[in-house]
Amino acid sequence: MARRQRRLFARWYPGVAASLEERGLGEWRRSLLSGLAGRVLEVGCGHGVNFPHYPDAVTELVAVEPEAHLRDLAREQAASSRVAVTVLDGQAEALPVESGSFDAVVSTLVLCSVEDQDRALAEIHRVLRPGGRLWCLEHVASANRPIRWAEHVFDAVFWSHAFGGCHTGRDTGAAIERAGFRLEGLEARRYPDLPFPLAVSPHLIGAARKPGASGPVEDSAGNR
Ligand SMILES: C[S@@+](CC[C@H](N)C(=O)[O-])C[C@H]1O[C@@H](n2cnc3c(N)ncnc32)[C@H](O)[C@@H]1O
Repeated sequence: MARRQRRLFARWYPGVAASLEERGLGEWRRSLLSGLAGRVLEVGCGHGVNFPHYPDAVTELVAVEPEAHLRDLAREQAASSRVAVTVLDGQAEALPVESGSFDAVVSTLVLCSVEDQDRALAEIHRVLRPGGRLWCLEHVASANRPIRWAEHVFDAVFWSHAFGGCHTGRDTGAAIERAGFRLEGLEARRYPDLPFPLAVSPHLIGAARKPGASGPVEDSAGNR
């Protein structure tokens, strides 16, 4: 995906995101993040739209964003956030943080856009401590096989080019499992919930767990 297309997307995404927030997505974000605690990493934080939703129990938030314009906006948003936020330049495929150092990783509307989804999920797995969770809100491929095939064609000829590398046809749930996570309460929902099919409607929301020991922070984040 050309850098120029991603840069262009970064310019107009915050405006689109604002209207989606008011149409129910903000409430999804709030409920997804409300139980988090401890050290949290957010990948592809965009302009920091999730920052106001992190609860006080989050002791530190490190947010990674590759697009300079969105990173600048995220830093402005971080200044008024009630949790301590550090915004870093970086890619999900090569996270600039230590292994096993986070209680939770958050990814909202990012795994559709990373260039190498398996590599990004391997990195997320690496930086989580054993028992830590990936919390995600992602739009995913249709469960219907002919529609999924059409999504791949649509992505190749139009969607990915127009929307900063986004893909409508990714089976993100399967990729999360393939990366070694246990799916725990990853729920299928539709957004927007319209009577006709829309390529970006099927979503996954919830958590997947890296197997291993679970500590006190994990307990408070996990038992919601
Ligand atoms: C649709 S926006 C979502 C932004 C934000 N997470 C949200 O929920 O509104 C996709 C985001 O993924 C970022 N992104 C794209 N490729 C990425 C990569 N390889 N690693 C990390 N972030 C990436 C984009 O720069 C953009 O901020």
